[in-house]
Amino acid sequence: MRTEWWQSGVIYQIYPRSFQDSNGDGIGDLDGITSRLSYFEELGIDAIWISPIFPSPMKDFGYDVSNYDDIDPIFGSMKDFDRLIKEAHARDIKVILDFVPNHSSDQHPWFQESKSSRENPKRDWYIWRDPKSDGSPPNNWISDFGGPAWTFDPTTNQYYSHAFLKEQPDLNWRNSHVRLEMYDSMRKWFNRGVDGFRLDVLWHVIKAQDFRDNPVNPDYKPHMGEMHKVLQLNSTDQPEAIEVAREMRALADRYDGRVLIGEIYLPFEKLVKYYGPKQDGVHMPFNFTLIDAEWKADTIFDLIARYEASLPPGAWPNWVLGNHDRPRIASRVGLAQARVAATLLLTLRGTPTMYYGDELGMEDGVIPLERVVDPREILDPGKGLGRDPVRTPMPWTPDGGFTEGEPWLPQHTDRNVEDEMQFDSSMLNMYKLLLALRRAHPALSLGSIALESAESNVLIYRREHGDEILRVALNFSDRDQTIAIPNADRMIFSTLLSAPETSGETVTLRANEAIIIEAD
Ligand code: NOJ
Repeated sequence: MRTEWWQSGVIYQIYPRSFQDSNGDGIGDLDGITSRLSYFEELGIDAIWISPIFPSPMKDFGYDVSNYDDIDPIFGSMKDFDRLIKEAHARDIKVILDFVPNHSSDQHPWFQESKSSRENPKRDWYIWRDPKSDGSPPNNWISDFGGPAWTFDPTTNQYYSHAFLKEQPDLNWRNSHVRLEMYDSMRKWFNRGVDGFRLDVLWHVIKAQDFRDNPVNPDYKPHMGEMHKVLQLNSTDQPEAIEVAREMRALADRYDGRVLIGEIYLPFEKLVKYYGPKQDGVHMPFNFTLIDAEWKADTIFDLIARYEASLPPGAWPNWVLGNHDRPRIASRVGLAQARVAATLLLTLRGTPTMYYGDELGMEDGVIPLERVVDPREILDPGKGLGRDPVRTPMPWTPDGGFTEGEPWLPQHTDRNVEDEMQFDSSMLNMYKLLLALRRAHPALSLGSIALESAESNVLIYRREHGDEILRVALNFSDRDQTIAIPNADRMIFSTLLSAPETSGETVTLRANEAIIIEAD
């Protein structure tokens, strides 16, 4: 079977506002990313996914798009973009863009037209419904950011739906003109050379045709955030969303080697439907389960087993430890376990997606109240749902090195690239080593996986490709654990970057240590 670059490769997510500023305005940009391409080469990743860079009023920092076919001046120009693509490709680095199909900005000319009158030809491009007889919203749907998913428009006396901010009206994907326009934009970016798309909230794109209420969530607790008051059964994950995925795939398949990744938060049995009935949906529906998993060997064993078992034949797996919406791995499990997590991510079967800064062990930043900018925090405050802490500027040097101006979010530099380059056992150097091993050993990138055990909080699995067999052992505990393992002396990697004690067929893993061993 021919393997594609996105199967053997590693994807690195860039939050562009925070990666590298080149013009001193305190916000990262495309030229900044281009200037750091050699960093990716040295690190050893294969593709960058850049969160949205299209023109936007930035109410949701780019996830509110007002023109799908251009670049926001804050990030640069189309010329800068073309240069980034050219220079990335010259280094054999692929570029994945972040496409936002479910909603546009309320400033998009389409919405401006749509809301201008009920008779406007674009009225049906968004989702408009009459109020209930008492004037209240058409149903009980709640926005993911809290509050009703409906906003009343007094000019035309109807409500429009928005799964997120009221400034992010939902597009009506049941309207064929909307589909054609969106596919046309994707085509334009493919023609410019982009290697794929991450598709924002793909499972949201179609809502139940009759707009019935969502069922009330019996397990709701206030700390979860308001959106969890109801179960989003009718506002998301309709069978027609998979049709949309298939149409996008048909478009991508007209080009060579392009990838579609769906952002979808659903349980496995629902998630895998987005591969399409004949493997003709998205190439990879994101698997986010490690983000919420209880950090214990037997839980993770079970999770891997269930995921692998749920994959339809031929479906390619993928794994994620964190992203721009969720607390960072180092803050969730601690710095020592973050090394174990990195080993897990880069040795499981399937494509890993790394989040910028995790390779340094970056932790959630501290954001003083007066610097909070994320609408998620502002609208549903005090529950720890805000995303500013995971979007702080990339620390390049002890002085920052991100911008010459005032960074848009506070810059933390206690861990930074320059320092970490210098000491051998840093998180960064450990990542480099793991990425190089993954590249050198097809067993790690393409091999089969066999789960072996999860005793004493140590997870062990085997990866196999051709006649190469590697065994991975991960100590999820903060205590030494002696385990029986064949060929214990043939270790090729330890997160502590020095060999643990072995004796015959046993090895004593140190607290929070993961190792890779050659086997036969
Ligand atoms: C998911 C994105 O990851 C998140 O950052 C954004 O706020 C919502 N979708 C809305 O587009």
